[in-house]
Amino acid sequence: MAAERFYITTPIYYVNYYPHIGHTYTTVIADVLARYKRLDGVDVLFATGTDEHGINIERRARAEEVEPQVWADKIADAFRDVWQRFNISYDEFIRTTEPRHREVVQRIFREARDRGDIYKGKYEGWYCPRCESFYLESDLVEDKRCPVHRLPVEWNAEDVYLFRLSKYADWLLAHIEKNPSFIQPGSRKNEVVSFVRSGLRDLAVSRSTFTWGIPVPDDPGQVIYVWIDALSNYVTVAGYGQDEARFARYWPADVHLVGKEILRFHAVIWPIILHSVGLEPPRQVYAHGWWSFRGEKISKSTGNLIDPWEHAQALARLSGAEVDVCVDAIRYFLAREIPLGQDGDWADESLLNRFNADLANDYGNLLNRTLPLVARYFGGLLPEAGPEEGGDEALRRLATATADEVLAYVDRCDFQRALAVVWQLLAAANKYLDTEAPWNEHKAGRVARAGTILVNTLEALRVATILLEPVMPTATLKVWTQLGLPHYEERARDARAAGRASQGTGLSRLDAQRWRGLSAGVPVALATPIFPRIDLKLALADKNFAATPPVAATSAASPAASPATAPIPAKETSVTEMISIDEFRKLDIRTGKVLEARQVPKADKLIELRVDIGDEVRTIVTGLIPHYQPQDLVGRTIVVLANLQPRTVRGVESRGMLLTAGFDDTFGLLAVDPDKPAPPGAPIS
Ligand code: MSP
Repeated sequence: MAAERFYITTPIYYVNYYPHIGHTYTTVIADVLARYKRLDGVDVLFATGTDEHGINIERRARAEEVEPQVWADKIADAFRDVWQRFNISYDEFIRTTEPRHREVVQRIFREARDRGDIYKGKYEGWYCPRCESFYLESDLVEDKRCPVHRLPVEWNAEDVYLFRLSKYADWLLAHIEKNPSFIQPGSRKNEVVSFVRSGLRDLAVSRSTFTWGIPVPDDPGQVIYVWIDALSNYVTVAGYGQDEARFARYWPADVHLVGKEILRFHAVIWPIILHSVGLEPPRQVYAHGWWSFRGEKISKSTGNLIDPWEHAQALARLSGAEVDVCVDAIRYFLAREIPLGQDGDWADESLLNRFNADLANDYGNLLNRTLPLVARYFGGLLPEAGPEEGGDEALRRLATATADEVLAYVDRCDFQRALAVVWQLLAAANKYLDTEAPWNEHKAGRVARAGTILVNTLEALRVATILLEPVMPTATLKVWTQLGLPHYEERARDARAAGRASQGTGLSRLDAQRWRGLSAGVPVALATPIFPRIDLKLALADKNFAATPPVAATSAASPAASPATAPIPAKETSVTEMISIDEFRKLDIRTGKVLEARQVPKADKLIELRVDIGDEVRTIVTGLIPHYQPQDLVGRTIVVLANLQPRTVRGVESRGMLLTAGFDDTFGLLAVDPDKPAPPGAPIS
C-alpha cells in the first residue's frame, strides 16, 4: 500500500512587507508538524508561499517607484531567504504571480460563473484596503476603523462580480456538523457557525479599481479579487487542472494552518468556493493565536516587528552558540511556549530562560556530563551495556514509550505537551544519572556497571534527540556527531545543500521506540557545549538583543538591516523634532529597584534613593515630595535614565534620573513602572 499522505499549508504571505516573527511562527509550526509526519513515515506535501496581487501591493510598489512584479520578486526572495535560514523544509513555495496559478484561478472563476454562482452586480460597504475586505458597520471599532488593523475604512461602491455565498450556507453548516475536526481548535467552531447563521452576504470576487491581479476571463476590465486568487493557491500546489494523479493523491489538504484573523476566509469562503466547483473542502483548518509584543499584535501596521534572523544573530552573539543553534532555540521557543490556538506576548526573558533551563541545562548538559566520563573511563569509545539493574528498566520503559506519546500529542497539534513529554524523559535521564552515579561505581571498581549507566543515559538522550529533530533540525545534528554518528549530520547537510532539506536524517518513530540504538565501540566526539548558558543580566541589558522597537506604521517604515531583509529606504521626514532610532538607542533607560530612600536633609522636595540598576547600585536624587514619601518608594521597581551626566544636588551626587509621568503639579507626578515585575537592569526600548 502506498504510504499515507499528508498535505499541510501555511497562509501565503502578503508581499507588502518583510517577514517577521508572526509569519515565522506559523511557518515554523507547520514545518515542525511536517517533519514529525515525515518521521512517522508519512508522504508529506508541505507548501508555503507569497500572496502577491492586490491594491496594497500595487500601492506599495508605486511608493517604492518600482513595478509591482519587481517589488514582489524582492519580497518573495526575502521570505525564501529567511525560511532557508530557519530550516523550513517546504516542498513547494507558491507565488500567486506564477503562470500555473493564473490558469487555476481563471479556471475556478470560469467554472463557478458557468454554474451561475458568480454574477455581475454592485458591491457597497466599508472597505479596509489593508485586509482587502468589506466590513459591516457592526464589525467596525470606534471611529469607523477596521477591527484587525484599526485603520480608517472607506465607503466603497463598485461594479464587480459577486459570488453567491448565501446559497451554500446550509450546506456549510451541515458540513461543519458532520466533520467535528474541520475547525480547530474546537472552541473556534461556534464562532464560525454563528457567523454563518447570522447570514452570509454575497462576496465581491473581482475589482475594477486596480489592475495588479489576474484578469477575469472574458472581462479584462476586472481583476479577480484577492480571496479566490489567494485561496486557490492550495489547489494549484496540489496539481489541480495540471497533474490529475498528484491532485488525486494530495487533495483534500489535511490541514490549512492559519492565524485566527483569517479563519473565516478558510472555514467559510474557501470550502464554499471549492464546493461550488465540485471539489472537496480541506479536512481541517487550524486557527492559531497571535503573538503580541508589549500587548500589541505584532504586525506591519503596528510596526512592532521582530526580525527573526536578526534575533537569532543577536542570540548567537550573546550566548556564543552557533547561529543555527539559536535559530533552533527560537523554533523550540515558538513551539513550546504557548499552546497552539492561544495568544502569547513575546518576552525575551522567557526565550532566554527556555534557552538556559531547557536547552543548556536539561538537554545539553546531559550530554556534557556523560561524554567526558566516556572519554575518561573508556578512552572515548562507547562501552558495552551489561544486564539491567537498579533504575535501568524504568528508564528503558519510559524511553521506549515516549515516541508514541509525543506523536499522539503531535496528531492533536499539541506541540507544547509533545515537547513536555520529551522533557520528562530528559528529566528522568538526568535523575537516573544522579542516582546511579557511575562515578561511584567506577571508583568502587565496577567499571562495567559504570559503562552500562553511561550507555543507558545516552540511549535515553538518543531517543529524545530523534524526537527533537523536527523542532531543532540543526542542533540535533550536532548531538548525533557527538554521539559518534557523524553520518547523520553529513547526510542532512548534503540533502540541505541539494535543496532536499525535507529528507533530514531519515530517522523514524521505530528508531525512537528501540532501545540500544547506539553501537558499542564507536568513538564519541567531545566538543564545546552546543547550548552554552547565557548570562541573563547581560543579555537583558543588551540593547541590540531587545526586540526591534516600534517603527512608524507608514509605508515608509523600514526594518533594521539584515542580510535577509535589506532595508527599504525610509522617506525623509519634515518634522524637525523627530529623533532617529539611533539617537533613541543612545538613551540607557532601564528598570531599577529601590533599595533605600530618605529625605535629603534641609530640602523640602528631594528624596535620595539607592537603586539597584542591574549591574550596580546607584544614588539618585529625585524631587518627588509631596507626591511620594521616601518609604512609599522602597521595594518598588522604577524606570531610570542611567546614562545622564552626574549632578550634585544639595551635596549629594545624583547619578541618573527617575522617570515620572505627569503634566504638572496639579495632576501630581507618578513614578513610571513596568506593569509586571521586571528584574533590575531590564532595558526599556
Ligand atoms: N495573504 C493573506 C493570507 C492568504 S492565505 C490564502 C495574509 N497574509 S499576511 O502576510 O498578512 O499573513 C497573515 C498570517 O501571518 C497570519 O494568518 C498568521 O499566520 C501570520 N501572522 C502574522 N502576524 C502574526 C502574529 N502577530 N502572530 C501570529 N501569527 C501571525 O493574511
